[in-house]
Amino acid sequence: MTIPNTLAANPLANVADGALLYGGDYNPEQWDRSVWRDDVARMVEAGVNVATVGVFSWSRYQPTPDTFDTDWMDEVIDLLWSHGIAIDLATPTASPPPWMGLRQPATLSVSPSGQRSQHGGRAHFCPSSPEFREHCREIARRLGERYGHHEAVRLWHIGNEYGHGCWCDHCRAAFQAFLRERHGSIEALNHAWGTAFWSQYHASFDEVVVPLRGQNPGAVLDHRRFVSAQLKTLYLEQREVLRPLVGDTPITTNLMGFYEHVDAQRWADDLDVIADDQYPDPADPWARQRISFVDHMLRSLRFGQPWLLMEQAMGAVNWRPHNTPKTSRQRVADAVRAIGHGSDGVLSFQWRQASSGSERFHSAMLPNSGADTLLHRDVQRIGTLLRELRPVAGTQVTTPVALVLDWESRWAAEEPDAPSNLSTVLERAEAWHRPLWERGWQVDVRAPWDDLSAYPVVFAPCAHLLSAESVDNLRAHVEAGRTLVMGAFSAVEDESARLFPGPFPGGFTDLLGARGEQWWPLGEAGAGLVSEALGGGRVAAWAERLVLDEHRPARVLASFDQTTPETADLGPAVVRSPDAPFYYVGAGLAEPQLAALVDLVLDEAGVAPDLGVLAALPVADRSHDCPGVEVMVRGGHTFVVNHAPLEQTVHSTVDCLDLVEGTRGREFRLAPQQAAVLRPGR
Ligand code: GLA
Ligand code: ZN
Repeated sequence: MTIPNTLAANPLANVADGALLYGGDYNPEQWDRSVWRDDVARMVEAGVNVATVGVFSWSRYQPTPDTFDTDWMDEVIDLLWSHGIAIDLATPTASPPPWMGLRQPATLSVSPSGQRSQHGGRAHFCPSSPEFREHCREIARRLGERYGHHEAVRLWHIGNEYGHGCWCDHCRAAFQAFLRERHGSIEALNHAWGTAFWSQYHASFDEVVVPLRGQNPGAVLDHRRFVSAQLKTLYLEQREVLRPLVGDTPITTNLMGFYEHVDAQRWADDLDVIADDQYPDPADPWARQRISFVDHMLRSLRFGQPWLLMEQAMGAVNWRPHNTPKTSRQRVADAVRAIGHGSDGVLSFQWRQASSGSERFHSAMLPNSGADTLLHRDVQRIGTLLRELRPVAGTQVTTPVALVLDWESRWAAEEPDAPSNLSTVLERAEAWHRPLWERGWQVDVRAPWDDLSAYPVVFAPCAHLLSAESVDNLRAHVEAGRTLVMGAFSAVEDESARLFPGPFPGGFTDLLGARGEQWWPLGEAGAGLVSEALGGGRVAAWAERLVLDEHRPARVLASFDQTTPETADLGPAVVRSPDAPFYYVGAGLAEPQLAALVDLVLDEAGVAPDLGVLAALPVADRSHDCPGVEVMVRGGHTFVVNHAPLEQTVHSTVDCLDLVEGTRGREFRLAPQQAAVLRPGR
């Protein structure tokens, strides 16, 4: 599958005239004008070509309700632009000024226990407050009118990291309106939520309260949908105001990867650019696999377009209990990884380290200790590397392998009062992603309702909640002869969190030649797995009692060891349909078993990962609890990162130049955490 370079269709292409973007959040309101000049000079030196400004500037624009001043921002924008730095202009709606909450307390959010928030932090607004929303539209309008046609402003950034809920009366009313729209009638809601249970019949929508976790699962699921949708409404209202004022300039906001309260798959169509904030913990060796998984998801949200790493840290963050800084190599490797995975830039929070406020211990591109520092020299180096990588801008990454994951399945499967809550759906999906990632696979992350026809192989680690359309979609995939590997606790609930009647996976047992009778969380000892194909070993935590079809039985790839009293009722653990590459995994497989399954499935499908110029990947050394070498191929370059704690050597099939170290040849030694970008040619 080759898709041509589509720079023309790339909404980011115009931000810095086709270059990869480099820069980050810039908060000049925290500094004197004299500092601004120094900032801009150093930005130019570092190769910065875009700055995100105004994210937290509301009280600078509007220190009192009746004053409004943009002169300072005129000066900032002109200064940056006169040095060739484009502007990503934010609406400052993530942190309303103190006067707003004091005069209009209903603009402040309320916690589940009923406590109203106060200013002094940020994101203290109620997403449903009509007064707050009016203020948001008003400031978006003023900024749009002032800067909508300024040639420096190449991107609009609405709010910041939308992500919180609110339990106030406005939100309750908005939730009721959302339900009216979704269900049509109160009787439909009663049916969907199964309110006959525990005497919860609702006579009207006015009786609906905002549910707490663990209460009616249908209500909780709808509320989770509502929280994500309500935040999106806030975003959309500002976008609507801006659109006629800004013309074709792309408008977006910054997502937070798999953050549970914002359903990125339901937001994607309304974002002109998929933008994301990423802070993998430098101290956690597996954080890079998890963030690669996030990258895969982001890349899949809008096909044919690059995404944008909107925020990352050049060093330590300040919000973990213990904040390990990035090493010099990790800094470079993180930039390489983002570009390799399809981002058209590397933007950081923030340009200059704050000297006051809650984030004064957070790293920045220009540290408090100055420009003559290891960190800042790396910032300059990365700027140079990104300039070299300009040909990659706008190009895409494609793959024949998809992994199905969606927010609604996560929400539904993770409700308490389930058979087991020992792991999250995301953790299970990450475990399935790991062997794929270690083998050099790029994986597209798709929702169960997405068109899957481009993928010969689809993994669905926990497609727990499925609409009738999604069931049909996945069935059609199998019926077309393509591979589907479905994980435990899949096809369990419909869109209203009601169980599918009959054996599981609901709607698939006829295709599978096996049926599930019972979910079977295991005791501490787990269960033994008997399997030549997957190598045996033990399964922890999760089993299912599967029974084979009498007439057309599934093939059994692995069975539970039934010799202990606890496991005597179990049987097949992993099965394959007798007539299609449709697999069902009724067990929480351990890592080597999952890896063996992935190998077996991909071999059968006859697909291989694109390793670019590399002949092979070094074999991961499992004596360390650490990943091995990651490879990404994009725009004719092969991006390699050594995540292992020891030196690794990779070999290219042709002579290459490593853009990171400037070395040439066919053999490249990578120290731990070191990255290389290989460009074929002498
Ligand atoms: C988030 C926010 C930024 C900043 C960083 C710090 O991504 O959007 O404003 O607080 O975290 O890591
Ligand atoms: Zn509210």
